[in-house]
Amino acid sequence: MAWIGFIAAMTDSNALKRAAGLRALDFIESGMKVGLGSGTTSEIFLELLGTRVRGGLKIIGVPTSERIARLATGYGIALSELDAAAPLDIDVDGADEADPDLNLIKGGGGALLREKIVATSSKRMLVIADGSKYVDRLGRFPLPVEVLAFGHGTTSARLAAAAATLGYPALAPVLRHKGDAVFKTDSGNVIYDCSFGAITDVPRLAATLSQIAGVVDHGLYVGIASLLIIARECGVEVIQGRK
Ligand code: 5RP
Repeated sequence: MAWIGFIAAMTDSNALKRAAGLRALDFIESGMKVGLGSGTTSEIFLELLGTRVRGGLKIIGVPTSERIARLATGYGIALSELDAAAPLDIDVDGADEADPDLNLIKGGGGALLREKIVATSSKRMLVIADGSKYVDRLGRFPLPVEVLAFGHGTTSARLAAAAATLGYPALAPVLRHKGDAVFKTDSGNVIYDCSFGAITDVPRLAATLSQIAGVVDHGLYVGIASLLIIARECGVEVIQGRK
């Protein structure tokens, strides 16, 4: 019985992700250079985009992960390296959390670094998500921090110390694993998942984390998203950001 409930919830959430992805297609025009985000919501969008491409839509995609590059190629979407295509017209990506200021937590799927490079190389970043991702305050989802493999244990200790100075005394960064092995990003780095709890000052935390030697990047996106498309059972809402 519990298993049936789980499958029903999965199906509902996939339907919401699909609704958000469908709305995002309204923002894609022929001739555009499009950043292709990673994660399950982005994959649903990619499949929908592939259908449009096979129907004649002409776009160039820039993938944010090796997996998305493989899937996009399979859907017949033409791809480019970022350097050859930047600036991009639009980037479409998912999020782990989004707040009313359109600050985001990203990186649950481990692609936060390339995703941020592509998002900040785009004129607009469109975020697609189901309603569960929209929160009053970021931090329930553990913040992924991408760390250089060299000396990563020392970097994680420095992360915890920096967090303590900002009023998060109990931070215990958790090294991400995939099965029994340490998870490695497409760029060969490791990830520490950091449960801050409610994040009280997002820009300050983002700036502090960026200054730690060994931290390659973190999943806080501040002032990057332009538009948030949130799909709920009652309908799809488009929330405009400041950018
Ligand atoms: C991957 C990401 C994803 O966008 C984020 O984890 C959301 O994923 P999903 O759509 O599967 O919930 O940041 O690095």
